[in-house]
Amino acid sequence: VAEKSYEYIKVSTPRPGVGLIELHRPKALNALFTPLILELNHALKTFDKDSTIGAMVLTGSHKAFAAGADIKEMATKDFADAFGDDFIESWSELPNTIKKPVISAVNGHALGGGCELAMMCDILYCSEKANLGQPEIKLGVIPGAGGSQRLTKAIGKSKAMELILTGRTFSGKEAYDWGLAAKVFATPEECLDGALATAETIAGYSRIAVKACKEVVNKSQDLGIREGVEYERRVFHGLFGSEDQKIGMNAFAKKEKAQWNHR
Ligand code: CAA
Repeated sequence: VAEKSYEYIKVSTPRPGVGLIELHRPKALNALFTPLILELNHALKTFDKDSTIGAMVLTGSHKAFAAGADIKEMATKDFADAFGDDFIESWSELPNTIKKPVISAVNGHALGGGCELAMMCDILYCSEKANLGQPEIKLGVIPGAGGSQRLTKAIGKSKAMELILTGRTFSGKEAYDWGLAAKVFATPEECLDGALATAETIAGYSRIAVKACKEVVNKSQDLGIREGVEYERRVFHGLFGSEDQKIGMNAFAKKEKAQWNHR
């Protein structure tokens, strides 16, 4: 990753097994435009393929996780540009193709596409004063990167409907109280630190088991409970064919720390 130089993001590996991606377009509060999304996709895919990486953290600055899709890039588009060129389609790589867990550490503004990007991640952490929301209604449009679906699944229809119809933003504390965020922190520093710590914990487990966990939890979003439980059982059975299942269970019996093969 270090070999590739990016203009709109920064990548690093601040802790063992953890890849960090920081959105870095400060002049536009990390507004999400195509060149940034392409860099983000490249970095995510590179970490996803890197066998030394077990989990990722995605963050912005203290001021803005991301202030939305780039309104200036969108303003001149007509229907043919948007529909014909599959505008926003390239944003789907994170939820659709990345297999390792990604934690978002949300500080400052996470509006429109910024909120949607945070919600595409597998776990959302934020600081109390983070400012999240789907204000697209104020621009004469609607959420376009999954906000109407993911926010509604996370916090329920009535509340999501109210937020999306009014464009009212909400705090990190509210996001936590409603179950959208898994944790809330007093400061941006603590938020990033907490996300990196969780990513490090995940990176310390069997990559095979972690990958399977992410897959089965995500299936719960698409399947009914009966099919979901059946799906989980098949994947659970499949893990008995892994080396790490033997390693983990034998280490427990011997009261040792498991040394995973990631196989
Ligand atoms: N697109 C393009 N540029 C943006 C931007 C965006 N979404 N958000 C901020 N910027 C730019 C501003 O234009 C400004 O640039 P200039 O210095 O060149 O004027 C710079 O970033 C700093 O912004 P502000 O001066 O506005 O900063 P502020 O602190 O006064 O306000 C803010 C911060 C409340 C986040 C405000 O910038 C704002 O409301 N931004 C737009 C938020 C928004 O509506 N997001 C949704 C976009 S639609 C979408 O995302 C569609 C989708 O679902 C995919």
